[in-house]
Amino acid sequence: GQILSRRFELPNDQYFGLGIKGGPINRKGRALFFRNSDEAGYGEDALYQSFPFYYTLNNSIAHGIFFDNPAYPFFDMNSAGDGIVTFGADKGELDYYIIAGPTPFEVSNTYSRLTVFNKLPPKWSLGYHHSRYGWLSADEILGIANQLRTDDFPTDTLWFDIDYMDNRQKFSWNPTTFPQPIQLHQSLDALGYKRIYIDEPCIRTDDRIWPYLDALGYFVKDNTSGESLVNDIWFGNVSWFDFSKSEASTWMASQIAIFTQTGIDGLWNDLNEPANNFMPDAQFDFDGDPRGEVESRNLYALLANKAAYEGQLLARPNVRPWNFSRSGYAGIQRYAHTWSGDANSDWPTLRINIEMSISTGLSGQNQFGHDTGGFLGSPDAELFIRWLEFSAFTPLFRNHSINTAAPREPWVYGAPYTETIRDLIKTRYRFLPYIYSLFETAARTGRPVLTPTFFYSTGDPDTYSQDHDFLFGPNLLVAPVYEQGATTRLVYLPYGSDWVNFHDGTQIAGGQSVVVDAPLGQTPLFVRAGTVLPMGPVVSHTNDGTQPHLDVHIFPGGDGTFVLYEDDGTSFDYKSGLYRYTRFDNLLNGDNNVVTITPLAGAYDTGPRDITLRLIGKSQSPTSVVLDSAPLSERTSAAELAAANSGWFFDTATSTVLIKFPGAASTQTVSTL
Ligand code: NOJ
Repeated sequence: GQILSRRFELPNDQYFGLGIKGGPINRKGRALFFRNSDEAGYGEDALYQSFPFYYTLNNSIAHGIFFDNPAYPFFDMNSAGDGIVTFGADKGELDYYIIAGPTPFEVSNTYSRLTVFNKLPPKWSLGYHHSRYGWLSADEILGIANQLRTDDFPTDTLWFDIDYMDNRQKFSWNPTTFPQPIQLHQSLDALGYKRIYIDEPCIRTDDRIWPYLDALGYFVKDNTSGESLVNDIWFGNVSWFDFSKSEASTWMASQIAIFTQTGIDGLWNDLNEPANNFMPDAQFDFDGDPRGEVESRNLYALLANKAAYEGQLLARPNVRPWNFSRSGYAGIQRYAHTWSGDANSDWPTLRINIEMSISTGLSGQNQFGHDTGGFLGSPDAELFIRWLEFSAFTPLFRNHSINTAAPREPWVYGAPYTETIRDLIKTRYRFLPYIYSLFETAARTGRPVLTPTFFYSTGDPDTYSQDHDFLFGPNLLVAPVYEQGATTRLVYLPYGSDWVNFHDGTQIAGGQSVVVDAPLGQTPLFVRAGTVLPMGPVVSHTNDGTQPHLDVHIFPGGDGTFVLYEDDGTSFDYKSGLYRYTRFDNLLNGDNNVVTITPLAGAYDTGPRDITLRLIGKSQSPTSVVLDSAPLSERTSAAELAAANSGWFFDTATSTVLIKFPGAASTQTVSTL
């Protein structure tokens, strides 16, 4: 019953994508197989999600293949070295799309049009997520919530793992340890936390609703007896909810609506591979057109997340739903964000997680992340901080660990690490205006948020093997440290532009490898010469009411532009015009700059705010700085400037010109002379 396509490759064909698998991002020479399964403690070949979509690059020209067949698709990218590339599946049709380039962006755009553009996520989901398996009571969670605030660790969400449940019963709270969930949610609201709840797609046979769902025929069936299938997994003796049956899925969405109305802001849809890895006797309904495991398994999470998405929408029609799923298939971005499952807490897995992020970003799934520090184990301070340095620059930034691991609250490592950890979390928050804008571009155009470096440098073959450096947006290159004991990092800077070291403003020509300092707590970061990068204030969470302030970094070496996107961060009002695009243009004029800030479109009111421009890499002070032809006052220190309403200051220590002024609703132009 297997079907496949087989072809000779062209000399120079290189292959990228294919989702969350680790290992070299160039898939040439690999044979990969996709059968969603629970793979705790995985190596390079993690299997939770299936993205049967890859890019071919040939002499800098890109095209894509999306093979839309969930029946255990496989890809053999010339693993035998005989020049033959094969892809196929165990059943079904050879249903595939050839996506024209010639740029990778055009491939990602077309793939998004086929499978749907990533949704614009709520802004809070881009902040720091604090999670753990093993918080046993409401009091414990409240204690952590309070300490995060008093110890000044910005955090947007707290996560509820299975211990909130009463004997693992669906939609229940333990009456002793979580006696008043709605009150708990209100207390967490007052502290500014969103709540993400785990929800399993399996229901224990001792659950009070098992008989009801069994009678309705809402479970996956045993294909011989026709009865509800029962599996013994670590969660208990369970039956799997059959989301392929429309009536069942609609029922589940209605229940999810009731559950989330208690004050749950997002769902964490776990175990949906389904987590019983072999179910040869399973039969999924598909509205009376039953199918077996081979055709259904890889679709299970997609359908489960559809119900979870629709349920949240029912409860709150004008709030963006948020789902976090362990498993998925092409198109999952319509309903859910994903993560790399139960990672080992060790150095090789940090490396693999970087590889997974790069390839997943390329495969149409934007908001993807990892259990920072690894799930299975207790990382020492060095491993945890290196992992945090990486995660802070991934689309989804979450700290999570198993109940047997040592606690991993940001304060547990003690001095001097606590300060380092706090700084990294705060750095994430300062980047949020930039990161949110990347997500808006992705939602509108299909341009991935996180890409391999070749994505914008297809003519540079040296980028094809950069397995551990990535771009977070087109202009910010992130080179996480993933080796124990390292104090420096070797980084290849792509050909075609000059680069600037984010941390010290040094300019470096592209097309070469450099060694940079990488002290613990500092992610090696580079920006393209001329990059304009708007940053924001440090906040305790994304809705803490801090006066908005933009801190626009302008890097040397070229002209640059950035379009900042803003809206209320949570609702769908942006679809009816409540958004705002603001363009920042920097033009070099010899040693001087002309920076123009242009409100482009949208009715969203950002409120009054200050803008600080940071002109980085300046060897000498300007003689004057003019805002819309009126000179600004020169200040004698950065502190004096910060206290003033407007003005400028040349900081010789950092070779930076700081220029501050109140933002306006109309175009503003700042010139240095
Ligand atoms: C497995 C998930 O991968 C993990 O993140 C979670 O903590 C456990 N299930 C317990 O619910």
